Amino acid sequence: MIKSTIKPLLLLAFAGMAFSSGAQNARIKIDIDRKIGEVDKHLYGNFVEHLGRCVYGGIYEEGSPLADDKGIRLDVLDAVKDLNVSITRYPGGNFVSNYHWQDGIGPKDQRPARMELAWARLESNRFGTDEFMDYAKRMNTEPYFSVNMGTGTIEEAQQWVEYCNVKSGPYFAELRKKNGYPEPHNIKYWSLGNEMDGFWQMGHMNAEDYSKKAREAAKLMKLTSPDIKLIAAGSSNYRPNADPNEWNATILHELRDVIDYIALHMYVGNPDNNYYNFISTPLVLEERTRVVKGLIDREMENADRGNRPPIYIAWDEYNIWYRARSEDTMAGTRALEEHYNLEDALVISGFLNAFIRNADIVKMANMAQLVNVIAPIFTNETGMFKQTIYYPLQLFAKNVHGTALDVLVDCETYDTDKFFVGLGESTTQQKNVPFLDVSATYNNGEVILCVVNRNKDKAITTDLISQEGNFSGDFEVFEVNGPDIKSENDFGKTNVETVNKPAIKVKTTDKLTYSFPPHSFTMLKGKIVK
Ligand code: AHR
Repeated sequence: MIKSTIKPLLLLAFAGMAFSSGAQNARIKIDIDRKIGEVDKHLYGNFVEHLGRCVYGGIYEEGSPLADDKGIRLDVLDAVKDLNVSITRYPGGNFVSNYHWQDGIGPKDQRPARMELAWARLESNRFGTDEFMDYAKRMNTEPYFSVNMGTGTIEEAQQWVEYCNVKSGPYFAELRKKNGYPEPHNIKYWSLGNEMDGFWQMGHMNAEDYSKKAREAAKLMKLTSPDIKLIAAGSSNYRPNADPNEWNATILHELRDVIDYIALHMYVGNPDNNYYNFISTPLVLEERTRVVKGLIDREMENADRGNRPPIYIAWDEYNIWYRARSEDTMAGTRALEEHYNLEDALVISGFLNAFIRNADIVKMANMAQLVNVIAPIFTNETGMFKQTIYYPLQLFAKNVHGTALDVLVDCETYDTDKFFVGLGESTTQQKNVPFLDVSATYNNGEVILCVVNRNKDKAITTDLISQEGNFSGDFEVFEVNGPDIKSENDFGKTNVETVNKPAIKVKTTDKLTYSFPPHSFTMLKGKIVK
């Protein structure tokens, strides 16, 4: 039951369109000349943190019959490869603020075990920089490292860049060679700490102190490896007493000549079991994106960046995280193990649509995280399964490239209640939430339309109209759906996955009609010819 008002507003706007009580109608206008920006391949990134069973028992499990002689879980690796992960952030997260990278290199049996304070574990350090780089090659992803701006020093950050990126000569480059890696790892993307505004972060500071430390770390890191790209830790702390955009404004001002991206994080949930509130949360991500874009634009007016492009936004942590939030589910070896359902997959589809609609400014996004920890892949000792959220992410990563288009969507809308966006966070109320959540891209004659039908009960029959050129040839249809919004996958049980539906047969025309089923994500893929 939708508590909020459903408004047949568009009846007024479109004479001739009938909205019956039993079904909904809509229209989507696609104009290949209305361009938002290029979709960056790094929108389909992911994140591996030393947390719970993401590394140990996830991607890496020494002695497992499912692992190779290096300890890599081969069943997991197959699923990871099939996700087309463009860029992978490592090794944290909160973990990195108490991580000293030198603990994780050299002969494994000589590495020190450490207390891991962020997530209350013993860190064996048997997986570290070089093991991650081997893994990144096997999964065919761009590595993205995060340095310790909490308990770490700027010198330690510089030495890590030297170990990874300098070919030979200085001590740490030679140490890498001694450890069996004659060629540099060439890591291009480096973030200057993680969530440093958060009171939970080890070494938490204010924006001025962070800016000073980040600027000096950046200086040393760039002197070591001039072509690296730097990501500053923006604020994602929307708790009632926090002022995230004060932090963002300060660091953007202080670091505007230095950084390439500002990192933002967002986790949402459905603790009140209100589907319509929850399914609107990608709109909050878009609001936050627009505010930070405004702050960036203001700073870019007086920045001294030479030929470098403006600062972009990296949503380098996003996901659904609300079930595993209690004291015992946030610590130890089984921390943050969320079991996802169909409504979660629809929210992820909405996030991905939001990144595409903001493709001019959002140039990186990393689902947090890859395996077991709030993740699309889930393991036990004898196998793995793909969670519901795996499927929309895979569809986007494999198909959605090229130029993002600014489409017009006319459909019925609803208003949400006032609700918490994430646990302990600010409240929001979303008005006029369109039942259809849409993004479109155009790439060498091919158009891809990604549509979430937020309506839990009704199909939405939609006219798709091409403003410039005609639809032509068959349109492939991929759908992520399931018996109901709470449907989950499990070991040996797949209720939610991508289904390749019968293609839409198209005679060359500027109008198609398609009915988007209730609570579904649909991708339509075909051609527009001029
Ligand atoms: O992804 C889980 C945690 O969420 C990360 O360690 C931290 O950066 C964020 O608060």
